[in-house]
Amino acid sequence: MSTRAKIIGTGSFVPEKVLTNKDLEKIIDTSDEWITTRTGIKERHIAQEGENNSDLAIEASRRALEMANVDAGELDLIIVGTLTPDMPMPSVACLVQRALGAKKAGAMDVSATCSGFLYSLSIADKFVRCSPNMKVLVIGSEVLSRRTNWQDRTTCVLFADGAGAAVVTGSDDDSGIVSTHLHADGSVWELLTIRGLGTAYPVDENLLKKGWQYIEMKGRDVFKHAVKALESVAFEALNASGWDMDELDMLIAHQANIRILEHLRERLGLPKDKVFINIHKYGNTSAASIPIALDEANRQGKLKKGDKILLISFGGGFTWAGVTIEW
Ligand code: UT7
Repeated sequence: MSTRAKIIGTGSFVPEKVLTNKDLEKIIDTSDEWITTRTGIKERHIAQEGENNSDLAIEASRRALEMANVDAGELDLIIVGTLTPDMPMPSVACLVQRALGAKKAGAMDVSATCSGFLYSLSIADKFVRCSPNMKVLVIGSEVLSRRTNWQDRTTCVLFADGAGAAVVTGSDDDSGIVSTHLHADGSVWELLTIRGLGTAYPVDENLLKKGWQYIEMKGRDVFKHAVKALESVAFEALNASGWDMDELDMLIAHQANIRILEHLRERLGLPKDKVFINIHKYGNTSAASIPIALDEANRQGKLKKGDKILLISFGGGFTWAGVTIEW
Protein backbone atom coordinates (compact mmCIF):
# COMPACT_ATOMS: atom_id res chain seq x y z
CA MET A 1 0.00 0.00 0.00
CA SER A 2 1.32 3.42 -0.94
CA THR A 3 1.44 6.19 1.66
CA ARG A 4 -2.00 7.69 2.17
CA ALA A 5 -2.68 11.40 1.88
CA LYS A 6 -3.89 12.95 5.10
CA ILE A 7 -5.67 16.17 6.07
CA ILE A 8 -3.50 17.79 8.76
CA GLY A 9 -5.37 21.09 9.14
CA THR A 10 -8.73 22.63 8.26
CA GLY A 11 -10.00 26.20 8.17
CA SER A 12 -13.05 28.14 7.08
CA PHE A 13 -14.26 31.69 6.74
CA VAL A 14 -17.60 33.32 5.94
CA PRO A 15 -18.34 37.02 5.37
CA GLU A 16 -19.52 38.93 8.43
CA LYS A 17 -22.80 40.09 6.88
CA VAL A 18 -25.73 37.80 7.74
CA LEU A 19 -28.94 37.71 5.69
CA THR A 20 -31.83 36.02 7.51
CA ASN A 21 -35.03 34.60 6.06
CA LYS A 22 -36.85 37.54 7.68
CA ASP A 23 -34.57 39.92 5.75
CA LEU A 24 -35.50 38.07 2.53
CA GLU A 25 -39.21 38.46 3.30
CA LYS A 26 -38.65 42.21 2.83
CA ILE A 27 -37.03 41.78 -0.61
CA ILE A 28 -39.12 39.09 -2.32
CA ASP A 29 -42.42 37.21 -2.05
CA THR A 30 -41.31 34.47 0.35
CA SER A 31 -41.58 33.48 4.00
CA ASP A 32 -39.34 32.20 6.75
CA GLU A 33 -41.76 29.26 7.02
CA TRP A 34 -41.42 28.28 3.32
CA ILE A 35 -37.62 28.56 3.29
CA THR A 36 -37.20 26.67 6.58
CA THR A 37 -39.50 23.77 5.74
CA ARG A 38 -38.46 23.41 2.07
CA THR A 39 -34.70 23.92 2.51
CA GLY A 40 -33.67 23.97 6.20
CA ILE A 41 -31.96 27.33 5.72
CA LYS A 42 -32.48 30.02 8.39
CA GLU A 43 -29.71 32.45 7.47
CA ARG A 44 -26.70 32.82 5.19
CA HIS A 45 -23.56 34.99 4.90
CA ILE A 46 -23.18 37.45 2.04
CA ALA A 47 -19.97 39.13 0.86
CA GLN A 48 -19.92 42.93 1.11
CA GLU A 49 -18.94 45.13 -1.81
CA GLY A 50 -15.20 44.75 -2.40
CA GLU A 51 -15.04 41.42 -0.56
CA ASN A 52 -14.07 38.81 -3.13
CA ASN A 53 -13.85 35.04 -3.46
CA SER A 54 -10.05 35.15 -3.04
CA ASP A 55 -10.40 37.17 0.21
CA LEU A 56 -12.56 34.41 1.71
CA ALA A 57 -10.24 31.70 0.36
CA ILE A 58 -7.15 33.43 1.80
CA GLU A 59 -8.63 33.72 5.30
CA ALA A 60 -9.86 30.09 5.31
CA SER A 61 -6.39 29.02 4.12
CA ARG A 62 -4.58 30.97 6.85
CA ARG A 63 -6.70 29.17 9.44
CA ALA A 64 -6.03 25.75 7.88
CA LEU A 65 -2.27 26.42 7.64
CA GLU A 66 -2.20 27.55 11.27
CA MET A 67 -3.91 24.35 12.44
CA ALA A 68 -1.57 22.25 10.26
CA ASN A 69 1.45 24.19 11.55
CA VAL A 70 2.59 24.58 7.95
CA ASP A 71 4.21 27.73 6.59
CA ALA A 72 2.85 28.96 3.24
CA GLY A 73 6.40 28.76 1.87
CA GLU A 74 6.31 24.98 2.34
CA LEU A 75 3.30 24.53 0.03
CA ASP A 76 3.87 22.70 -3.27
CA LEU A 77 0.41 23.10 -4.78
CA ILE A 78 -2.75 25.16 -4.26
CA ILE A 79 -6.04 23.87 -5.73
CA VAL A 80 -9.25 25.88 -5.54
CA GLY A 81 -12.65 24.41 -6.37
CA THR A 82 -14.93 27.27 -7.40
CA LEU A 83 -17.57 28.36 -9.90
CA THR A 84 -17.40 32.02 -8.91
CA PRO A 85 -13.76 33.11 -9.37
CA ASP A 86 -12.83 36.79 -8.87
CA MET A 87 -12.19 36.88 -12.65
CA PRO A 88 -11.63 34.43 -15.52
CA MET A 89 -7.89 35.10 -15.38
CA PRO A 90 -5.92 34.75 -13.13
CA SER A 91 -7.29 31.86 -11.12
CA VAL A 92 -8.35 32.29 -7.51
CA ALA A 93 -5.52 29.87 -6.69
CA CYS A 94 -2.93 32.32 -8.08
CA LEU A 95 -4.40 35.16 -6.02
CA VAL A 96 -4.21 32.96 -2.91
CA GLN A 97 -0.64 31.96 -3.82
CA ARG A 98 0.41 35.62 -4.00
CA ALA A 99 -1.37 36.68 -0.80
CA LEU A 100 0.03 33.80 1.25
CA GLY A 101 3.53 34.16 -0.18
CA ALA A 102 3.49 30.51 -1.23
CA LYS A 103 6.54 31.06 -3.44
CA LYS A 104 7.22 27.48 -4.54
CA ALA A 105 3.57 26.40 -5.01
CA GLY A 106 1.84 25.66 -8.29
CA ALA A 107 -1.71 26.98 -8.40
CA MET A 108 -4.90 26.06 -10.27
CA ASP A 109 -8.68 26.30 -10.09
CA VAL A 110 -10.92 23.31 -10.64
CA SER A 111 -14.34 23.81 -12.23
CA ALA A 112 -16.64 21.13 -10.85
CA THR A 113 -19.38 23.29 -9.25
CA CYS A 114 -20.57 21.97 -5.87
CA SER A 115 -18.20 19.00 -6.21
CA GLY A 116 -15.23 21.37 -6.65
CA PHE A 117 -13.76 20.68 -3.23
CA LEU A 118 -14.02 16.89 -3.51
CA TYR A 119 -12.61 16.93 -7.05
CA SER A 120 -9.72 19.10 -5.78
CA LEU A 121 -9.17 16.88 -2.75
CA SER A 122 -9.05 13.85 -5.06
CA ILE A 123 -6.39 15.53 -7.21
CA ALA A 124 -4.39 16.37 -4.07
CA ASP A 125 -4.74 12.75 -2.95
CA LYS A 126 -3.20 11.45 -6.19
CA PHE A 127 -0.28 13.92 -6.08
CA VAL A 128 0.51 13.11 -2.46
CA ARG A 129 0.28 9.35 -2.98
CA CYS A 130 2.96 9.73 -5.68
CA SER A 131 5.06 12.22 -3.67
CA PRO A 132 4.25 11.90 0.06
CA ASN A 133 6.44 14.86 1.03
CA MET A 134 4.24 17.26 -0.96
CA LYS A 135 2.09 19.74 0.94
CA VAL A 136 -1.10 20.66 -0.90
CA LEU A 137 -3.58 23.36 0.07
CA VAL A 138 -7.11 22.43 -1.07
CA ILE A 139 -9.82 25.10 -1.01
CA GLY A 140 -13.52 25.40 -1.85
CA SER A 141 -14.59 29.04 -2.09
CA GLU A 142 -17.62 30.85 -3.51
CA VAL A 143 -19.28 34.25 -3.82
CA LEU A 144 -22.56 32.95 -5.22
CA SER A 145 -24.47 36.06 -4.11
CA ARG A 146 -23.03 37.86 -7.18
CA ARG A 147 -24.32 35.20 -9.55
CA THR A 148 -27.76 35.11 -7.95
CA ASN A 149 -30.81 36.87 -9.35
CA TRP A 150 -32.20 38.63 -6.28
CA GLN A 151 -35.60 38.87 -7.97
CA ASP A 152 -35.83 35.09 -8.47
CA ARG A 153 -37.24 33.64 -5.26
CA THR A 154 -36.64 30.07 -6.43
CA THR A 155 -32.86 30.51 -6.24
CA CYS A 156 -31.95 33.62 -4.21
CA VAL A 157 -33.08 32.10 -0.92
CA LEU A 158 -30.68 29.17 -1.41
CA PHE A 159 -27.21 30.30 -2.44
CA ALA A 160 -24.61 32.12 -0.32
CA ASP A 161 -20.93 32.88 0.23
CA GLY A 162 -18.05 31.29 2.15
CA ALA A 163 -14.80 29.33 1.96
CA GLY A 164 -13.19 26.28 3.50
CA ALA A 165 -9.68 24.84 3.20
CA ALA A 166 -7.63 21.78 4.10
CA VAL A 167 -3.88 21.08 4.13
CA VAL A 168 -2.98 17.65 2.74
CA THR A 169 0.31 15.76 2.98
CA GLY A 170 1.64 12.20 3.25
CA SER A 171 0.40 10.26 6.28
CA ASP A 172 2.87 8.91 8.83
CA ASP A 173 0.49 6.12 9.84
CA ASP A 174 -2.50 4.26 8.33
CA SER A 175 -4.88 7.21 8.57
CA GLY A 176 -5.81 9.40 5.61
CA ILE A 177 -7.85 9.36 2.41
CA VAL A 178 -8.92 5.80 1.61
CA SER A 179 -10.73 6.17 -1.71
CA THR A 180 -12.01 8.86 -4.09
CA HIS A 181 -14.83 8.63 -6.66
CA LEU A 182 -15.57 11.25 -9.32
CA HIS A 183 -18.60 11.27 -11.65
CA ALA A 184 -20.24 13.53 -14.21
CA ASP A 185 -23.22 13.66 -16.56
CA GLY A 186 -23.04 16.59 -18.96
CA SER A 187 -26.20 15.56 -20.81
CA VAL A 188 -28.45 17.43 -18.38
CA TRP A 189 -26.33 20.55 -17.84
CA GLU A 190 -29.24 22.88 -18.57
CA LEU A 191 -30.99 21.89 -15.33
CA LEU A 192 -28.44 23.92 -13.36
CA THR A 193 -26.37 26.54 -15.12
CA ILE A 194 -25.00 30.06 -15.41
CA ARG A 195 -25.17 30.47 -19.19
CA GLY A 196 -23.55 33.86 -19.57
CA LEU A 197 -20.17 35.45 -18.78
CA GLY A 198 -18.23 32.64 -20.45
CA THR A 199 -17.18 32.91 -24.09
CA ALA A 200 -20.27 31.27 -25.63
CA TYR A 201 -22.37 34.43 -25.56
CA PRO A 202 -21.42 38.08 -25.94
CA VAL A 203 -21.82 40.11 -22.78
CA ASP A 204 -24.36 42.61 -24.06
CA GLU A 205 -27.73 44.08 -23.14
CA ASN A 206 -29.51 41.03 -24.52
CA LEU A 207 -27.62 38.72 -22.15
CA LEU A 208 -28.30 40.95 -19.17
CA LYS A 209 -31.99 41.23 -20.12
CA LYS A 210 -32.29 37.44 -20.23
CA GLY A 211 -30.59 37.20 -16.82
CA TRP A 212 -27.98 34.79 -18.14
CA GLN A 213 -25.38 36.21 -15.78
CA TYR A 214 -27.28 34.46 -12.98
CA ILE A 215 -27.85 30.91 -11.72
CA GLU A 216 -30.78 29.12 -13.39
CA MET A 217 -32.04 25.97 -11.73
CA LYS A 218 -34.89 23.51 -12.28
CA GLY A 219 -34.98 22.76 -8.57
CA ARG A 220 -37.30 19.77 -8.55
CA ASP A 221 -35.39 17.95 -11.32
CA VAL A 222 -32.05 18.70 -9.67
CA PHE A 223 -33.41 17.39 -6.38
CA LYS A 224 -34.33 14.03 -7.96
CA HIS A 225 -30.94 13.60 -9.63
CA ALA A 226 -29.12 14.70 -6.45
CA VAL A 227 -30.70 12.16 -4.10
CA LYS A 228 -30.05 9.28 -6.52
CA ALA A 229 -26.45 10.25 -7.28
CA LEU A 230 -25.55 10.95 -3.65
CA GLU A 231 -26.95 7.63 -2.47
CA SER A 232 -25.20 5.73 -5.23
CA VAL A 233 -21.77 7.35 -4.68
CA ALA A 234 -22.10 6.81 -0.92
CA PHE A 235 -22.48 3.04 -1.40
CA GLU A 236 -19.76 2.99 -4.07
CA ALA A 237 -17.27 4.72 -1.75
CA LEU A 238 -18.11 2.52 1.23
CA ASN A 239 -17.80 -0.66 -0.85
CA ALA A 240 -14.44 0.46 -2.27
CA SER A 241 -13.20 1.16 1.25
CA GLY A 242 -14.42 -2.17 2.57
CA TRP A 243 -16.61 -0.45 5.19
CA ASP A 244 -20.09 -1.45 6.34
CA MET A 245 -22.58 1.37 6.81
CA ASP A 246 -22.75 0.78 10.56
CA GLU A 247 -18.97 1.32 10.81
CA LEU A 248 -19.31 4.86 9.47
CA ASP A 249 -18.72 7.56 12.11
CA MET A 250 -19.64 10.69 10.15
CA LEU A 251 -21.29 11.62 6.86
CA ILE A 252 -20.55 15.11 5.58
CA ALA A 253 -22.63 15.77 2.48
CA HIS A 254 -23.01 18.88 0.34
CA GLN A 255 -25.39 21.19 2.20
CA ALA A 256 -27.96 21.89 -0.53
CA ASN A 257 -31.25 21.06 1.17
CA ILE A 258 -32.15 19.60 4.57
CA ARG A 259 -34.70 17.33 2.85
CA ILE A 260 -31.95 15.82 0.68
CA LEU A 261 -29.82 15.25 3.80
CA GLU A 262 -32.71 13.66 5.72
CA HIS A 263 -33.68 11.49 2.75
CA LEU A 264 -30.07 10.31 2.52
CA ARG A 265 -29.86 9.62 6.23
CA GLU A 266 -32.94 7.40 6.01
CA ARG A 267 -31.80 5.59 2.85
CA LEU A 268 -28.37 4.92 4.37
CA GLY A 269 -29.87 3.98 7.74
CA LEU A 270 -27.69 6.39 9.72
CA PRO A 271 -28.54 7.85 13.13
CA LYS A 272 -28.96 11.65 13.36
CA ASP A 273 -25.67 12.28 15.16
CA LYS A 274 -23.70 10.72 12.28
CA VAL A 275 -24.90 13.22 9.66
CA PHE A 276 -23.32 16.66 9.98
CA ILE A 277 -25.69 19.53 9.28
CA ASN A 278 -24.99 23.26 9.21
CA ILE A 279 -27.18 24.36 6.27
CA HIS A 280 -29.38 26.41 8.64
CA LYS A 281 -26.46 28.82 9.20
CA TYR A 282 -24.87 29.05 5.76
CA GLY A 283 -27.32 28.05 3.01
CA ASN A 284 -25.89 26.41 -0.10
CA THR A 285 -22.28 27.59 -0.55
CA SER A 286 -21.53 25.17 -3.42
CA ALA A 287 -17.84 24.13 -3.43
CA ALA A 288 -17.37 25.73 0.00
CA SER A 289 -20.08 23.74 1.74
CA ILE A 290 -18.14 20.52 2.44
CA PRO A 291 -14.88 22.15 3.61
CA ILE A 292 -16.80 24.57 5.87
CA ALA A 293 -18.71 21.61 7.37
CA LEU A 294 -15.51 19.55 7.66
CA ASP A 295 -13.77 22.40 9.50
CA GLU A 296 -16.71 22.92 11.86
CA ALA A 297 -16.97 19.22 12.64
CA ASN A 298 -13.19 19.12 13.20
CA ARG A 299 -13.11 22.18 15.48
CA GLN A 300 -16.13 20.92 17.43
CA GLY A 301 -14.15 17.74 18.21
CA LYS A 302 -16.60 15.57 16.26
CA LEU A 303 -13.85 13.87 14.23
CA LYS A 304 -11.71 11.52 16.32
CA LYS A 305 -8.52 9.75 15.30
CA GLY A 306 -9.40 6.57 13.42
CA ASP A 307 -12.98 7.69 12.66
CA LYS A 308 -14.41 6.58 9.33
CA ILE A 309 -15.69 9.63 7.46
CA LEU A 310 -17.59 9.85 4.18
CA LEU A 311 -17.76 13.08 2.13
CA ILE A 312 -20.25 13.28 -0.77
CA SER A 313 -21.23 16.08 -3.14
CA PHE A 314 -23.53 16.83 -6.07
CA GLY A 315 -23.80 19.88 -8.33
CA GLY A 316 -24.26 21.48 -11.74
CA GLY A 317 -22.72 19.79 -14.74
CA PHE A 318 -23.87 17.43 -13.30
CA THR A 319 -20.92 16.41 -11.16
CA TRP A 320 -20.93 14.21 -8.10
CA ALA A 321 -18.19 12.73 -5.95
CA GLY A 322 -17.38 10.72 -2.85
CA VAL A 323 -14.28 10.55 -0.65
CA THR A 324 -13.69 8.26 2.33
CA ILE A 325 -11.22 9.24 5.03
CA GLU A 326 -9.86 7.41 8.03
CA TRP A 327 -9.30 10.45 10.28
O1 UT7 B 1 -26.14 22.73 -5.04
C1 UT7 B 1 -26.47 22.02 -6.19
C2 UT7 B 1 -27.55 21.06 -5.96
N1 UT7 B 1 -28.79 21.76 -5.73
C3 UT7 B 1 -29.79 21.12 -5.18
O2 UT7 B 1 -29.62 19.97 -4.83
C4 UT7 B 1 -31.12 21.79 -5.08
C5 UT7 B 1 -32.22 20.79 -5.28
N2 UT7 B 1 -33.56 21.35 -5.24
C6 UT7 B 1 -34.14 21.81 -4.10
O3 UT7 B 1 -33.52 21.88 -3.07
C7 UT7 B 1 -35.61 22.16 -4.14
O4 UT7 B 1 -36.17 21.74 -5.36
C8 UT7 B 1 -35.89 23.68 -3.96
C9 UT7 B 1 -35.59 24.09 -2.52
C10 UT7 B 1 -35.06 24.48 -4.91
C11 UT7 B 1 -37.36 23.98 -4.22
O5 UT7 B 1 -38.19 23.19 -3.39
P1 UT7 B 1 -39.41 22.37 -4.00
O6 UT7 B 1 -40.09 21.71 -2.88
O7 UT7 B 1 -38.86 21.49 -5.10
O8 UT7 B 1 -40.33 23.52 -4.55
P2 UT7 B 1 -40.85 23.75 -6.04
O9 UT7 B 1 -39.77 24.29 -6.90
O10 UT7 B 1 -41.58 22.54 -6.50
O11 UT7 B 1 -41.92 24.90 -5.79
C12 UT7 B 1 -43.09 24.68 -4.96
C13 UT7 B 1 -43.85 25.99 -4.84
C14 UT7 B 1 -44.07 26.69 -6.20
O12 UT7 B 1 -45.35 27.28 -6.17
P3 UT7 B 1 -46.60 26.57 -6.89
O13 UT7 B 1 -46.18 26.44 -8.35
O14 UT7 B 1 -46.74 25.24 -6.22
O15 UT7 B 1 -47.71 27.51 -6.65
C15 UT7 B 1 -43.03 27.78 -6.19
O16 UT7 B 1 -43.40 28.90 -6.96
O17 UT7 B 1 -43.11 26.91 -4.03
C16 UT7 B 1 -42.99 28.15 -4.73
N3 UT7 B 1 -41.73 28.77 -4.33
C17 UT7 B 1 -41.61 29.60 -3.28
N4 UT7 B 1 -42.51 30.06 -2.40
C18 UT7 B 1 -42.08 30.89 -1.44
C19 UT7 B 1 -40.52 28.61 -4.90
N5 UT7 B 1 -39.61 29.33 -4.24
C20 UT7 B 1 -40.25 29.95 -3.22
C21 UT7 B 1 -39.86 30.83 -2.21
N6 UT7 B 1 -40.78 31.27 -1.34
N7 UT7 B 1 -38.58 31.21 -2.04
